[in-house]
Amino acid sequence: MKVQKGEIVAARKYSENLYKLEIFSPYICKNARPAQFVNVRCAGFESNDPLLRRPFCIYEIDKKFNVFSILFIVKGKGTAYMANLEKGEILDFVGPLGNGFNIPENKNKFLLLGGGIGVAPLCLIAQNLIENNKTVHFVAGFKDETFYVWERDLIKILRDYRIFSENGAFGEKGLPSEYIYNSLDTFKEYQFLVCGPLEMLKNIQSILRGRKINALALMEEKMACGIGTCMGCVLRIKNKNGDIQYKKICTDGPVFDLMEVCFD
Ligand SMILES: Cc1cc2nc3c(=O)[nH]c(=O)nc-3n(C[C@H](O)[C@H](O)[C@H](O)COP(=O)(O)OP(=O)(O)OC[C@H]3O[C@@H](n4cnc5c(N)ncnc54)[C@H](O)[C@@H]3O)c2cc1C
Ligand code: FES
Repeated sequence: MKVQKGEIVAARKYSENLYKLEIFSPYICKNARPAQFVNVRCAGFESNDPLLRRPFCIYEIDKKFNVFSILFIVKGKGTAYMANLEKGEILDFVGPLGNGFNIPENKNKFLLLGGGIGVAPLCLIAQNLIENNKTVHFVAGFKDETFYVWERDLIKILRDYRIFSENGAFGEKGLPSEYIYNSLDTFKEYQFLVCGPLEMLKNIQSILRGRKINALALMEEKMACGIGTCMGCVLRIKNKNGDIQYKKICTDGPVFDLMEVCFD
């Protein structure tokens, strides 16, 4: 992990609030693994506002051109700054951070479920799984059509996917959790990997409780340091013996056993 400055080679607006930045960085392209993230400085050269860096998953890696990308939703000051960056400008970031995703041994079929911007880290994982000859079924759920253009990125990786939106404006109308619930028999041999809003993760945890399905979750929390020193990103975990442990999402995660995460 190191502090780096990378040139933005493309800045794309996908919809009103959704943006993609493509950044030249041989270091990230060589060293980063799926599920890792970068901590981005979101202030101009002469400003310290906001002071804290903002974490973003690595969305894509193009090793041929040494370019990686970030897909992000505008939430507040930091992401508004990033949305205004243009091709040719320099992004200051630290990374790769967190632990990468290791493909579980003896698993050949994977169900990836992303809610909203939770699809971002799953795309690089999907690509990695496909490169390792695994079967991947991707399920994505959104509120509306904000992610409409994103489907073009997904199609480049795989064709076996289902998209749902709450208002029916993009993909099928409905919730991905309902689809999962109704298809449990089909997916009983799949390794699940989920990332998205807490409500969705909680829902999937309760659907899978008591069933012999392995599920991993990519967890997110507001972060200050991103390197394990501030304790800002602590997550409560209840292991199989019922013992409670506190884990840091930035250095112990972001990948955890979904069934061990305490949401209350
Ligand atoms: C490991 C990790 C990876 C992430 N990857 C992505 C990604 O790939 N794409 C993306 O769009 N976002 C991602 N996020 C969330 C992103 O970091 C926040 O949206 C961003 O920091 C908001 O900064 P801001 O200054 O624009 O908003 P702020 O002014 O800091 O906050 C605006 C609003 O966003 C909420 N918010 C802030 N941080 C988070 C957070 N970590 N999770 C949920 N809500 C938050 C605040 O509660 C507030 O309501 C990730 C977060 C983590 C921890
Ligand atoms: S963000 Fe500081 S300990 Fe995780």
